[in-house]
Amino acid sequence: MKNKILEFLRQSRDFVSGEDISSSLGISRTAVWKYIRALKEEGYEIEAVSKKGYRLVNRPDILTYSEIKDYLLTEYMGRKIFYYNSVTSTNIIAKELAENGLEEGTVIIAEEQTLGKGRMGRKWSTPNGEAIAMTIILRPEISPFMAPSITPILAVSAVEALRKLTGFDVKIKWPNDIVLDSKKLCGILTEMNSDMDMINYIIVGMGLNVNQENFDDEIKEVAVSLKSFSGINFKRKIIIAEILNEFEKNYEIFKVKGISEFLDKLKEYSVLLGKRVKVISINNSFEGEAIDIDKDGSLIVKKDNGEITKVLSGDVSVRGMYGYI
Ligand code: BTN
Repeated sequence: MKNKILEFLRQSRDFVSGEDISSSLGISRTAVWKYIRALKEEGYEIEAVSKKGYRLVNRPDILTYSEIKDYLLTEYMGRKIFYYNSVTSTNIIAKELAENGLEEGTVIIAEEQTLGKGRMGRKWSTPNGEAIAMTIILRPEISPFMAPSITPILAVSAVEALRKLTGFDVKIKWPNDIVLDSKKLCGILTEMNSDMDMINYIIVGMGLNVNQENFDDEIKEVAVSLKSFSGINFKRKIIIAEILNEFEKNYEIFKVKGISEFLDKLKEYSVLLGKRVKVISINNSFEGEAIDIDKDGSLIVKKDNGEITKVLSGDVSVRGMYGYI
């Protein structure tokens, strides 16, 4: 009902009387007033003038479906959004919702995460209202072996969305980071629940630094936001919608044609190719030069002894030799 009242106010540039709203929606005027108060608490600026009614003056940059849908061109990605002020981790919530059968394309978004998860057991910080923390539920009918490729598919989609919206030279740091100005702008965490030959669901979480001005001491050398890079405040809802628009297109292509269809883009956007890297996995680590991306999406590294090796994305971390890249 709150959303219906919001739509009502959005449709009209002028005042709408409480009477009109209550009779059109079949609720009492006291109920209208309560919903208006709830909208104000969410940050909507609504002018109330006696004998005239209510007028929507300003909309907040919040990440509800009502706010994002104006920019969405998708058929199913983001058509159901669960929006929270504060959660432990959108990946944790997504997992619970996926277990309960929520459909493909459902997106979980939070203003703040208190237990945000990074790859390899690391933490991910999402300060209130400044960044994007979202997780998408997917149920592709593909082999579980193809699941790790969802990460680069989302990375390509985000790079294309961000280049289009900002014009900044954002790139991909294989396997799961998006980079701006040689620092980390965005991380992706893909998790899967599957049987041997069938995926039950995949949840793919993305943390994107948008309007943070400062970062904690321990990450400030390696982290960047769109605002810390440019001084410009960005509308997060537009960024989310554009990423989902790109992702739905790319995901549909990927399911039919596989990751090899994205090879050219992965190479074009890669920040690692031609660079010296250190590959760190649970059992060993080695150094070499990142020379190519294979048609299955893995990174090809030439070790210092000349040996050429393929690095699968799994549990590896790739570092540049001179800092983050
Ligand atoms: C990484 O770079 O290590 C991955 C970071 C992934 C962070 C996102 S924020 C939304 C989603 N919820 C989480 O708890 N993690 C992912």
